[in-house]
Amino acid sequence: MAVKQSRRDFLGMAFGGVAAVGGVLSLGAMKKTWDPLPSVQAAGFTTVDLSPLKDGELMKTQWRGKPIFVLKKTADMKKNENRDVVIGDANYTVIIALCTHLGCIPSWVPSTKQFKCACHGGEFNASGINTFGPPPRPMDIPPFKIDGMKLVLGEEGPEYKKLVAKV
Ligand code: FES
Repeated sequence: MAVKQSRRDFLGMAFGGVAAVGGVLSLGAMKKTWDPLPSVQAAGFTTVDLSPLKDGELMKTQWRGKPIFVLKKTADMKKNENRDVVIGDANYTVIIALCTHLGCIPSWVPSTKQFKCACHGGEFNASGINTFGPPPRPMDIPPFKIDGMKLVLGEEGPEYKKLVAKV
């Protein structure tokens, strides 16, 4: 009887051990599944160096698959306290370049200093504010952080929070 008891104990412990190891391995596998892929983590932020931009020049980039326009405003472009990203003595328009009507990508027209949407004729001024046609609101400003002359898209820095608080 004593022998049977100890065999049962041994089997119980062995089974418990296997179950525990299996449980730990499953948790590890689940965590791997939940964690974002390295490519997704890298896509979370986009860093843009603004130092090469000249006055009036438009830079196009992408953040999380969305088109982003950065326009370095010229002195004759109206300053917008609620939307301009100010770095040093320069003002920048930073927008998610998707028309707020149905999502087409507008074009920058330097001669008229406007963003024009070819889909249904919508127009936005140099600050990305809708001025004509069907777009119901200004183009969105992506979250950003200023790091010297660099813009880190995807991170909510104090300058971004200040702009959002004004709107
Ligand atoms: S999608 Fe731009 S005006 Fe309609």
